Amino acid sequence: MEDELKQRVIEKLQKGEELPAEWARFLFPPEKREYELVYHGKEREEDILANTLAVPLQPVRTFGRNGGDGWKNMLIFGDNLQVMKSLLELKKAGKLCNNDGTPGVRLVYIDPPFATKQDFRGTQDQKAYQDKIAGAQFVEFLRRRLVFLRELLAENASIYVHLDYRKLHYLKTVMDEVFGEQKFVNEIIWQRTASHNDPGRYGCVHDTLLFYKGGSDYVWNEPKMEQSEEYIASFFVYAESPDKKRWIRLKNGEEPPKGWERYRLGNFASPHPRPNLTYMYKGYKPPKNGWKVDIDRMKEMDRDGLLHFPSSKEGRIQPKQYLKDTLGNKAVPDVWTSIPPLQAQAAEKQNYPTQKPELLIERIISASSSKGDVVLDAFAGSGTTCTVAEKLGRRWIAIDCGKLATYTIQKRMLNLHREIGERGPRLECKTFTLCNAGLYDFSRLKDLPWDSWRSFALLLFQCRDEPHKIGGMQFDGYLKGASVLVFNHTKNPGARLTDETLDEIQEAVGKRVGNKLFIIAPGLTFGFQQDYVDRDGVRYYALRIPYSIINELHQRQFTALKQPADEMAVNDTVEAVGFDFIRTPELKFKCDARNRKGELLKEGVIRIQTFKSEAVVREPMRKKGNLETLSMVMLDYDYDDEVFDLDAVFYADALANADWEVRFPLESLGAKLMAVFIDIYGNEARVVLEAGEFGVKTGKKAGKAVAK
Ligand SMILES: C[S@@+](CC[C@H](N)C(=O)[O-])C[C@H]1O[C@@H](n2cnc3c(N)ncnc32)[C@H](O)[C@@H]1O
Repeated sequence: MEDELKQRVIEKLQKGEELPAEWARFLFPPEKREYELVYHGKEREEDILANTLAVPLQPVRTFGRNGGDGWKNMLIFGDNLQVMKSLLELKKAGKLCNNDGTPGVRLVYIDPPFATKQDFRGTQDQKAYQDKIAGAQFVEFLRRRLVFLRELLAENASIYVHLDYRKLHYLKTVMDEVFGEQKFVNEIIWQRTASHNDPGRYGCVHDTLLFYKGGSDYVWNEPKMEQSEEYIASFFVYAESPDKKRWIRLKNGEEPPKGWERYRLGNFASPHPRPNLTYMYKGYKPPKNGWKVDIDRMKEMDRDGLLHFPSSKEGRIQPKQYLKDTLGNKAVPDVWTSIPPLQAQAAEKQNYPTQKPELLIERIISASSSKGDVVLDAFAGSGTTCTVAEKLGRRWIAIDCGKLATYTIQKRMLNLHREIGERGPRLECKTFTLCNAGLYDFSRLKDLPWDSWRSFALLLFQCRDEPHKIGGMQFDGYLKGASVLVFNHTKNPGARLTDETLDEIQEAVGKRVGNKLFIIAPGLTFGFQQDYVDRDGVRYYALRIPYSIINELHQRQFTALKQPADEMAVNDTVEAVGFDFIRTPELKFKCDARNRKGELLKEGVIRIQTFKSEAVVREPMRKKGNLETLSMVMLDYDYDDEVFDLDAVFYADALANADWEVRFPLESLGAKLMAVFIDIYGNEARVVLEAGEFGVKTGKKAGKAVAK
């Protein structure tokens, strides 16, 4: 760079002024770097990896008893970026392994929000998906996640990213940067709909999947497919009788007679002149360059009935290629036209907008993983990936930040059918654990055994787990170079952390601990309110569970795991930072039953009178008014006292237009109904209602209710 320009850069920086964009050419000469995508807000990979908060996984519940090999599949509710940082810790600790022992994830499939402003609508007016993050912000949102996905990959791994035409070109460049251009394997075009009327342009009927390998090699189980009907009709135009004595040429669309074999003609002509293979056979002339086979092989094939003799001796002998030998044997190209979109009545349909067909995911999982491999979907939605992974005997991890997704997946996994497309006999799923990440249940946390509490506490505050002693006193790890003490509240129940405790620590270790010490303990254990206390040059920080946002410590504003609440905000692309603790919202409601408008049938009604989130959220989106923090109400019409089995969803915006009444058909009601009211931060108020509360007495048949 010229001295003069150097000087001007320094001056501008000193004045706090922005550098002109065109100076980038001099600051970062293009000839010294590979091409890259430049946009506002692009973080350095090192910073992404270092600054993302890891959020501990809190097991909420384990489902299924069909375990065996020690591994538990995982359904994780949380922001995938933070969750992936925690998964990375698991990988490093050797706790995230494929069945063959290799650490990491063998296959990633993600279907992230497409960054459109389009409204996706589900049935019952549920809109579980809205992409709003625009432009560079969206690209960076995804890039940060790709960086973590790369780190999570095992050896011989693959990643498929499902996109549409809007941001595909940016993401291809980003993936080249993150994974390396040489790791690119395929751009796959999936024709997702048959026809589409896009006024003024060609109808857009496809999505694109970018397929990259993780390392120098990757699992590849050569996929094969059936020939299409049109192809068969155009090429397999001959059929022969069972005794091979007669053949016919099929007319367009004609099916062969029963028992006749369909075949097409192969090529028997040598590409190069072969005088020694140029011979007459049974009165038929040889091709110009001769045959591909010698006379002995010709006779052998004739004996086996593998030759097609045309009626006229002027024609050419050609080998037969039977349809039965080529079925399911066609190599799969990179344009996928034979996987239809989900039909409204399909057995696998979950009523989750943007749900992808199981057939699509089956092709990917079968080709790029083996039995026992870990398959990860970090934007799980309705759980198509984990469903197919389960059916194909793979291990799986599914992450989604939506409560709707979480409950949809839970239901789907507990009601599986063996075959792709949700057909065939029932399949009991292998054991899986539902985990919370970033939104924790404190009441369950405080009952954890000491070791689990200690690990959870250290991870929550991003501390390095490294037990050490100073002045004979045991410490648990480090945070920002200072020692961390996890107070063992389980040892002396009721023990408090008071000024005297600090005196004792001071006496034992004094300044040898440095000028900072972090103490983690349940909030109520602390006998002082301040975030820190200074004592003889040492600052003692109180890290309280539940909840401790210490700006100095976290450097970033925490952002809650936002849940959709109105028509426009339902399932935005979500970016949550930090952690929070579950607080049950305040809820008051009344139950009723009445005739449906214009019908004789009755409907049940839950009229919501009060709903207020109790979440401690320090950010502008905090709302306080009654009903303002309601996100959605989910119902299980026939609650079995065990598992919430999602049947219907009612979004807050729809409820606002219905006088805050949740109305449902009474004929769906079982003996008990469970209603889950969710606030916009993901907190739940759950109620179980007897059928009688809706003026319904339970009939004996399978506990179903009958309207009075
Ligand atoms: C296109 S949908 C996935 C659909 C899925 N392939 C299926 O077949 O059902 C994208 C999903 O990403 C989720 N999502 C968006 N941002 C997220 C984030 N930061 N962390 C985890 N999930 C996220 C949304 O809740 C939504 O369910």
